[in-house]
Amino acid sequence: MLLKGRNLVKSEDFSVEEIDQILSLSQNIIENPSKYSRVCEGKLLATLFYEPSTRTRLSFESAMCRLGGSVVGFSEPNSSSVSKGESLGDTIRTVSCYADAIVMRHPVAGSAEEATKYTEVPFINAGDGGNQHPTQTLTDLLTIKSLKGSLENHTIGLCGDLKNGRTVHSLVKSMSRYKGIKFIFISPDELKMPKYIKDAIQEQGHAYYETDNLDEVLGSLDILYMTRVQRERFENQEQYEKLKNYYILNKSKMQNARKDMLVMHPLPRVNEIDVDVDDDKRAVYFKQAKYGMFVRMALIMKLLGIKEVQNDLEEVAID
Ligand code: NCD
Repeated sequence: MLLKGRNLVKSEDFSVEEIDQILSLSQNIIENPSKYSRVCEGKLLATLFYEPSTRTRLSFESAMCRLGGSVVGFSEPNSSSVSKGESLGDTIRTVSCYADAIVMRHPVAGSAEEATKYTEVPFINAGDGGNQHPTQTLTDLLTIKSLKGSLENHTIGLCGDLKNGRTVHSLVKSMSRYKGIKFIFISPDELKMPKYIKDAIQEQGHAYYETDNLDEVLGSLDILYMTRVQRERFENQEQYEKLKNYYILNKSKMQNARKDMLVMHPLPRVNEIDVDVDDDKRAVYFKQAKYGMFVRMALIMKLLGIKEVQNDLEEVAID
């Protein structure tokens, strides 16, 4: 199927082959950024952020600007007609009249799916409540592929708030489509990976192991994916206070990890990774943020049907 004109709501919306196309275009852009600096001239991306964001919004906006396109949108819903009571459907219909693609983050799980009923242009979910965050997953896949060489045969530990963290939901669903992946879910009892995600990976024939003890499994991991305890998803703030510092990865714990283990984190970090880990070459979370911009450049190009630049003189259609 063509990627041109499609929506991205959940990480399974694109096939493994389609994801491969996006990752390889991202790698091409990383190698030749200047060749892509005008391919989206005249195109407009709308970023509608109903929830706070640093990396996702700014990496999308940087991505579009670095492709030569332009950006409109809001980062604060109170500055839009949402504050006058406008429905999500009416907002999306209206923005569809102006922009060539829409990126939306919203606090309600399922709102991205809902928005696709109204959009006339490619729609990208930038996080819907505790549900999914598929472009963070593209970021994570590009990071793993670039730094580990392959998306197959890894033991990946996901640690922290696995109940409310949308990044880990999308990542696990996506990684479960590759061969030889072992999942280790590391969380306190209160923040365990939801059953529907565990069922989905079992259906793909993968085993998983659950524990609340990071030290017990750290030495067996190829990748450690840390997450923050999602304060905004807690109804009971006392429970958040009790759980927020459950895991703190620091330099001394890192001595027990493999020499080539990657420490990833979608960011923002709170206390779960001590700053004394930042200088460790295995800590790749800021690199990961940079990969996020390149993969979003590739995603925008694909959904808009922009041709891949082959060399200085010639352009070849990729879809
Ligand atoms: C994540 C998110 O918004 O879900 N951040 C991001 O997009 N990189 C992770 C988080 O907020 O913990």
